[in-house]
Amino acid sequence: MKRIAIFVSGNGTNLQRIAEYFKGNPEVEIVNVVCNNPKAYAIERAKHLGIPVRMVNKQEFNSTAFTQEMADLQLDFIVLAGFLWKIPESLIQVYPKKIINIHPALLPKYGGKGFYGEHVHEAVVAAKEAYSGITIHYVNEIYDSGEIIFQAKVALTSDETPDSVAAKIHLLEQANFPVIIEMLLKQ
Ligand code: GAR
Repeated sequence: MKRIAIFVSGNGTNLQRIAEYFKGNPEVEIVNVVCNNPKAYAIERAKHLGIPVRMVNKQEFNSTAFTQEMADLQLDFIVLAGFLWKIPESLIQVYPKKIINIHPALLPKYGGKGFYGEHVHEAVVAAKEAYSGITIHYVNEIYDSGEIIFQAKVALTSDETPDSVAAKIHLLEQANFPVIIEMLLKQ
């Protein structure tokens, strides 16, 4: 049995997709959802999916007690699915190459602090990029700079808006994120 925790801050569409993808798979269990935002719709989704939610505030998140709590869960992977806080070094040390993130752009472009969600798509449109895409990568101590596992790109037209780019990116995420997680679990 492979044990996963999914960290979320927002809508939770990736959480939902991953949970549905692995539903009924006897080899994969989503042990819990960790959420830092009491207003996140992802909380509702997790409840509907029957996955326990662990709410966390910033002080707690960066404490050794929280790292120990995650260590005790004996996870095979931590999946960041729209999670916006930096992961403490202590947690990375407990789970080296076991924490993965999805970023809604073709890293190293449009990455780093402040580049998340719609801000990424706004910058991509402002720069009139011909392509955008997704990057799935390992998490290290520096925002959005861990080793890249997978990228997929999509062509943009000259009249894209941040919303239209977001829609294209979400489709890429939905199609690819669970498949890549499954591949990593099998390695
Ligand atoms: C996703 O597009 C994900 O790539 C992005 O946040 C969105 C979360 O959507 N992540 C980042 O920007 C990380 N820097 P969701 O909550 O509906 O899954």
